Amino acid sequence: MATTLCLFILLFVQLAFAQRQDDDLMSFVTLPEIRALKFEITHHDRDRASPGYWFVAPYGMIDPEAPTRQYLQYQVGPYIYDQDGVLIWAGSPMFGNRNTFDFKAVNNLDGRQYLSLIAQRTFNDDIPGGGIILNQHYEVESQIFKLENTWEFNVHEFKVLDGGQSALACVYQSKVLDLADVGRPGDQRLFLTGGFAELDLATGAPLFQWDSADHLGIHETDRFHTWDEPMGEWGYDSVHMNAVDKNAYGDYIISMRFTDTIYMISGVDGRVMWRLGGRESNFVQDFVFSKQHDVKFVKSNGTHHVISFLNNAADEITTDETVSSAMLVLLDTTAYPMTATLIARLPRPDGQLSRLRGNVQILPNDNVFVGWSEQGYQSEFSPEGHVLMTARFSSDRFSTYRAYKYEFKGRPRTPPDLVASVYGTNDEDLTTIFHVSWNGATDVARWYFYGQGYDGGAPVLVGNVTKTDFETMYVGHGFLDWVSVAAIDHDGNVMGTSAVHRTKTPDDWKAAGYAGSFNGPSPINPSTTYSVGKDQDSHSQSGMASGDTQEVLAALSQAYEVVRGLGSLLILILFLSSIIGIALGAYWVLRRRRQVQSYRHVPSEESFPMEEARLQTNSED
Ligand SMILES: *[C@@H]1O[C@H](CO)[C@@H](O)[C@H](O)[C@H]1NC(C)=O
Ligand SMILES: *[C@@H]1O[C@H](CO)[C@@H](O)[C@H](O)[C@H]1NC(C)=O
Repeated sequence: MATTLCLFILLFVQLAFAQRQDDDLMSFVTLPEIRALKFEITHHDRDRASPGYWFVAPYGMIDPEAPTRQYLQYQVGPYIYDQDGVLIWAGSPMFGNRNTFDFKAVNNLDGRQYLSLIAQRTFNDDIPGGGIILNQHYEVESQIFKLENTWEFNVHEFKVLDGGQSALACVYQSKVLDLADVGRPGDQRLFLTGGFAELDLATGAPLFQWDSADHLGIHETDRFHTWDEPMGEWGYDSVHMNAVDKNAYGDYIISMRFTDTIYMISGVDGRVMWRLGGRESNFVQDFVFSKQHDVKFVKSNGTHHVISFLNNAADEITTDETVSSAMLVLLDTTAYPMTATLIARLPRPDGQLSRLRGNVQILPNDNVFVGWSEQGYQSEFSPEGHVLMTARFSSDRFSTYRAYKYEFKGRPRTPPDLVASVYGTNDEDLTTIFHVSWNGATDVARWYFYGQGYDGGAPVLVGNVTKTDFETMYVGHGFLDWVSVAAIDHDGNVMGTSAVHRTKTPDDWKAAGYAGSFNGPSPINPSTTYSVGKDQDSHSQSGMASGDTQEVLAALSQAYEVVRGLGSLLILILFLSSIIGIALGAYWVLRRRRQVQSYRHVPSEESFPMEEARLQTNSED
């Protein structure tokens, strides 16, 4: 009796818990395997926001997750959303739930639209990590993998350069270095050195390669102490290279988190042309920064540069300022000494620190889009620094390394997904419910819904609805057996059509409440019921007009929500009464056994606070 009660309670607690855990994820009838993250969004000045979509790559753990720990439905990977948080593309299935990084649109290749991203290796290394370029049909155009003697395709950066001949990537290598530079000649240790490569996109071969071990001193870092333990089997992660860009003059700008320094590297001979920040800055500067990410050229004419970067100002160990900020800085390398002048400092709107990761993007209208990384927090600023928008994932279980905003035209090759089912209690009130979505398609304005009397019959337009969400529902009158949909753009053109689907019928019509013939109703022939131009507005012609049906359905759905609410209350009541039951039961059991087991605290990895757990598991930020 007590056991049954316990099981009963467990079941309900689990159900209630599952429900709560679910609220921050989207779910779709057409793509049940996709559970995309929801956003919480605040628009402060919608009119001044730049046009475009958000590009994010949520992950739960930054390292590849063991398959046994991975949540089976699709969540992590590349995603596109519009500015209302409406899902546009879920790329997770394409990458099998692998982590992806630096996901963005690429418009500098040949006038056509592309996407680029880093797909992380799998846990078992059966699929290597790499930099991948997709076309606007979400097909792989090209991909390159890690260089020889490197550990993996580094997750920090994959920047396709103008024309698409080459791309920049960060490169980490394990090398034994002599500690002479820090006063211990002859003492040799293994280091995880950081650098970058410009890679030929066609062959993957390095066109230019640079490594910190050849150009920087070990003393530049604040992260190497001889008494420290190395970072795993790869050695001391002493510089932590995390960003690279190239200007039209062929020189590279790079960021190293553990030296608090931005370096300019000559594209001719790899020498360090100058250092900004850190212990050996070559600039007279009117600002400070540290633990920075994502340095990029905004403008550069060879001697004068405007650069952008995220001044995290803190990391897992140190806190240098109270708030992280996006920075725009003007560098004059003709002055003596060289000068670095702050143009803009955009503090994180919630006043917090991004201790790890993040990025800054200057949009075409000079708005600034900033990814603050943790929990997908992101914001858009006007050029004057006004906060126009802030958003974050509803779920605190996910982050994105970087977040971007781009205009993009997605044209999937796969047809729209359609699911239709029929409901009703008698032949007069039968309705066919359509659910349609088209993963990755931008610019769909309306959906047209069709029925046909038989396979191969002429499709008859039974209705149309404005697309407002990723998935769109439409209620058609009558049992439409053969159905299809067409996506219509803003000019009324057909963008694509679904396959013709059969409508799902209940397994058991009687059990589903249908009072007519035992075998269920017969489908209608839409060409007689929905004939074109025949009294479109007359309700009597087609029974219940679809507008009314939509209202009835909305009312039903509201009623369902109320019932669900009542359900939760019921669960609570059951739960509370069960607790009392358990307490009584437990007392009874304990009394019978007269043997009390001592309480043991079993620490588990899950019990670490977020930041600590992350420190344990990753080195990739
Ligand atoms: C670069 O820009 C600066 C500031 O606008 C200007 O003074 C300088 O002459 C420019 N140099 C070249 C080589 O165009
Ligand atoms: C689309 O639906 C509306 C009613 O919702 C209707 O007035 C209009 O004629 C329909 N358009 C087409 C092309 O059928």
